Amino acid sequence: MAKSKSKSVYTCQKCGAQRPKWLGQCPECNSWNSFVEETYSAAAAEPRGWTLGKSQDSVREPAEAQRLHEIQPKNNSHRRILTGISEFDRVLGGGIVPGSYVLVGGDPGIGKSTLLLQMAGNLSAQLSVLYVSGEESVDQTSLRAKRLGVKGTELFIAAEGQLEKILDLVQKVKPSILVVDSIQTIFLSDLESAPGSVSQVRECAGRLMTLAKSSGISVFLVGHVTKDGHLAGPKVLEHMVDAVLSFEGDSSYSYRLLRSLKNRFGTTHELGVFQMNSEGLQEVLNPSELFLSDHQEAALGSCLFALIEGSRPLLCEVQALTNTSPMPVPRRTTVGWDTNRLHLLAAVLERHAGVMLSQREIYVNIVGGLKIQEPAADLAVAASLVSSERSFMLSSKTVLFGEVGLTGEVRPVHMADLRVKESLKLGFRKFVLPRRNKTSVEGLFQDHKDAEVIWIDHIQKLPDTLKQLSPRYTPNAQGASATSKAQEDFI
Ligand code: TYD
Ligand code: MG
Repeated sequence: MAKSKSKSVYTCQKCGAQRPKWLGQCPECNSWNSFVEETYSAAAAEPRGWTLGKSQDSVREPAEAQRLHEIQPKNNSHRRILTGISEFDRVLGGGIVPGSYVLVGGDPGIGKSTLLLQMAGNLSAQLSVLYVSGEESVDQTSLRAKRLGVKGTELFIAAEGQLEKILDLVQKVKPSILVVDSIQTIFLSDLESAPGSVSQVRECAGRLMTLAKSSGISVFLVGHVTKDGHLAGPKVLEHMVDAVLSFEGDSSYSYRLLRSLKNRFGTTHELGVFQMNSEGLQEVLNPSELFLSDHQEAALGSCLFALIEGSRPLLCEVQALTNTSPMPVPRRTTVGWDTNRLHLLAAVLERHAGVMLSQREIYVNIVGGLKIQEPAADLAVAASLVSSERSFMLSSKTVLFGEVGLTGEVRPVHMADLRVKESLKLGFRKFVLPRRNKTSVEGLFQDHKDAEVIWIDHIQKLPDTLKQLSPRYTPNAQGASATSKAQEDFI
């Protein structure tokens, strides 16, 4: 018989570390004031394991190991289920793997529920899907589903927060896909801590994992993101699931980016692009066109960068503005790019290319709310800085990529061929590329005789190179300062 004794432990809400006494600072993750008292009843401390249709005793059967060649995959477990949303399938690594456990994280209101409801609707034409919401009532979810045009007959909706009841529902409905929205609102009644606390999240997620692995049901879990952009809940949550998808977007734009941060069944950093409109989320099959839709003919301090997201090339506009600084320590601000990398690049440009930036204010913006982490963007940012500082416009058809080292050398980048192919496909014909990428991409220009390619191996040559490509040489362009005019004479 289960004992009624309950035990109190202190749990760090950041990393999940547990201690018998309260501590001001967590010894594991060093965060302050993160310990919260949580009470466990003895029943919850019993050996864990929930299997569909099996008793607790069967969990304690001796473990077995099988020879690899003797293992027969369970029926259909090797076949992927297509969601009907190709961008979603791409991020999942080619569709849903039966029995997989996927966490979809993102800011509130970004569209997680909408995406999963649309997916559930598509799948319900061929499979049974159970969508359990701990946040919205059945009426609210069904209204939203109707508005989204979800018609499937095998879509079951429930509004429930207690995990035991959800698991009972699963036994009754026997779905192929289970969507739980969200992990922060579901709870086990055995645990006395509040829904969303570390121990609730960990226990609930653990039980859902057992469900996915033992029954072959694919489980999708919605997770919220904290103010600093991390998935709420302990890191163990991310370790437990097979894939972590992050749904991002800027509230001022209608498009949304779905990224895979972890995927046991496909490559990570794969990107899916969607647009949110009155009919829900629509796929964007050619995102480069979306990001470049407002691109001007020629502009001061602006050029194009061909980036790689996962395995997908994407073109985006990089803008830079340099100005006289009213303060002794000039301001440097970046949107969508790393500020430390900007400091580094400004120092390299000053030392090796004679572009004097140490007393100048610098702003860098990646248009469209994209966030670039690749060092391959160095050359494009450097070109925008030079264009702004030296006041010559760059043609809108100029594409750059390349990493810049501290010695000023322009280093080659990976997947250069994909970047060039995408740029050519979209009609861009002017390129400034690292010389050491020449052998791998030269062949691509053979069918495009009108393309103008300049190979560059050192940042020192960048100002002259850009001047050569500039459609209109404008030393007195609007906004140019006296300093930059003086520097112009220096070239
Ligand atoms: P939702 O899926 O509820 O976000 P989350 O589950 O991540 O919190 O999305 C809510 C937002 O999406 C809301 O601000 C309105 C917008 N939206 C549309 O623009 N069109 C639609 O058809 C739907 C369903 C939502
Ligand atoms: Mg929601």
